[in-house]
Amino acid sequence: MDFLGTMRRTHHNNNLNLANVGETVTLMGWVLRRRDHGGVIFIDLRDREGLTQVVFNPEVNPEVHAKAHRLRSEWVIAVQGRVEPRPGDMANPKLATGEIEVLVDSLNILNTSETPPFPLDEETEVSDNLRLQYRYLDLRKPDMTANLMIRHQAVQSIRDYLNEKGFIDVETPMLTKSTPEGARDYLVPSRVNAGRFFALPQSPQLFKQLLMIAGMDRYYQIVKCFRDEDLRADRQPEFTQIDMELSFVDEEQVIDVVEGMIAALFKKTRDLDVGQSFKRIAYDEAMARFGTDRPDTRFGLELVDLTDIAAACDFKVFRGAAESGGTVRAINAKGCATFTRKELDDLTDFAVQFGARGLAWVKVKEDGSWQSPIAKFFSDAERQRIAETLEAAPGDLLFFGADKPSIVFQVLGELRCELARRLEMLDKNDFNFIWVTDFPLVEYDEKEKRFQALHHPFTAPRESDVDKLDEDPGSVYSRAYDLVLNGTEIGGGSIRIHDPKIQLKVLKALSITEEEAEEKFGFLLKALQYGAPPHGGIAFGLDRLLMLITGSDSIRHVIAFPKTQKATCPLTDAPSRVERKQLTELHIRPDWKE
Ligand code: AMO
Ligand code: AMP
Repeated sequence: MDFLGTMRRTHHNNNLNLANVGETVTLMGWVLRRRDHGGVIFIDLRDREGLTQVVFNPEVNPEVHAKAHRLRSEWVIAVQGRVEPRPGDMANPKLATGEIEVLVDSLNILNTSETPPFPLDEETEVSDNLRLQYRYLDLRKPDMTANLMIRHQAVQSIRDYLNEKGFIDVETPMLTKSTPEGARDYLVPSRVNAGRFFALPQSPQLFKQLLMIAGMDRYYQIVKCFRDEDLRADRQPEFTQIDMELSFVDEEQVIDVVEGMIAALFKKTRDLDVGQSFKRIAYDEAMARFGTDRPDTRFGLELVDLTDIAAACDFKVFRGAAESGGTVRAINAKGCATFTRKELDDLTDFAVQFGARGLAWVKVKEDGSWQSPIAKFFSDAERQRIAETLEAAPGDLLFFGADKPSIVFQVLGELRCELARRLEMLDKNDFNFIWVTDFPLVEYDEKEKRFQALHHPFTAPRESDVDKLDEDPGSVYSRAYDLVLNGTEIGGGSIRIHDPKIQLKVLKALSITEEEAEEKFGFLLKALQYGAPPHGGIAFGLDRLLMLITGSDSIRHVIAFPKTQKATCPLTDAPSRVERKQLTELHIRPDWKE
């Protein structure tokens, strides 16, 4: 193996073009491909920035050419040579350096490599586990490298924007106390204080409020958060928030600041103008039309309420739902009457997965009559009314859900997105932002038999609703807002409670006793008594934003070292066993088998 010696890199592998012809340059990087063409060896040399074709010609330098014969994929080399135009039709317009090649006169082999466990191109399908195990190789793929570079740009543009707007970056502790964001905590046992635990923060929520009370005025932090919850494509156990908080503001000012930030972010990373005044929708309307509080508004397929008609019909499933406080809603999949039996069965299975007890459907035939397992339950007049309400035309396919509202909303909300996927209605380059506002403050938790905060317990109730907190908390609206992009919740925040009396009222509505409140966040309650300014803020999921910006299917593709679906790291093999002695020091007696 050679050393760098006197070689010094002059260019990255995306830099050279016809303007450099004739220059002597030094490039370094990894061997992506080696091709032997009748004695001449071509190497695609890769670094973080791109590819350059380097050429070893036996007639130019037989010694170096002989050495180049040894090169294999992923070997690390340094080459010195002259930039030449590629002959005639050999130019590659897809490559930044496609018009030139470097005729090598000197080669240092800086390192060899084992054969990678998978090819480092973007086409080959490789299991996620293997990719994560060899993440340092996976990240060499140009698309993965590009994702990390875009992430870097994104963070820079966010910092530039927020710095400019008078925000200061303040770090908050990682070893802290549980923050009530609704997930399970990751706990860290204390060695010094037996039987006591730190929690890793689910968010800096309480600290950023304390910073407002401390007079910091405008705070931000690009910060890791930890939540022990079931993982999905857009959920990791540790993820990054763009977290911020502002004093002396109402919701309009928060929204205004972050719209500017998002606009700057999309301009910087995608050179896109996404506008600075996103659409808004109230929570109740979002649920009614889309079945979810994170609606994908790139396509229609909206839910239509048929509960009134259902209440008067003879189909037991529908009438039963309508009469027992449930709801009956439908979606008109325009022109989809051509769906096969198999497709309908698949969609039924899909619906059942989300809690449906069935998925009634109707195909509207050319003459307007119904082909459907439920056609027989309806009179002509009822069929007509349903068709009119759904604006159904021949060739349409109608889907129905009848159940408790929560189930119908979830089932049809998911079905709508599944239909859009199947009908290829989802354009990744169409960025549809929408603010969801006017959330209820609390929702009833059937299992726990008490109200839970829809956001977190520090979210302010609407001023005009404060009086209803004691009697009818379920009817109180909050001052929360979520930003949704193409069906993904990318950010959420609220104006906070700054009046300690109202904070106590809200905690009471959530059935949190005074002792419990004191124990869990007494420090915040105390701080609120020392001149808390009106304040509010928001946190964005940086990983989710980048997933959407880069068109990735999972946030794993925009995180350098993510966890698997099972919250493990195949690269380091974390979480791993620890020595008995360590446990003893932490005052933990294991009750598991080794
Ligand atoms: P929230 O819990 O809504 O609010 O989190 C803010 C944003 O963080 C992202 N996010 C996640 N991303 C990846 N993996 C996860 N497990 C995960 N969980 C959340 C989402 C979400 O919108 N303290 C409040 C914010 C506030 O009120 O200011 C909070 O944490 O994009
Ligand atoms: P059944 O009378 O149970 O055979 O149901 C007739 C049709 O209604 C079938 O296509 C079922 O999939 C559908 N169905 C049953 N229960 C529901 C429900 N709760 N919501 C929507 N469709 C349903």
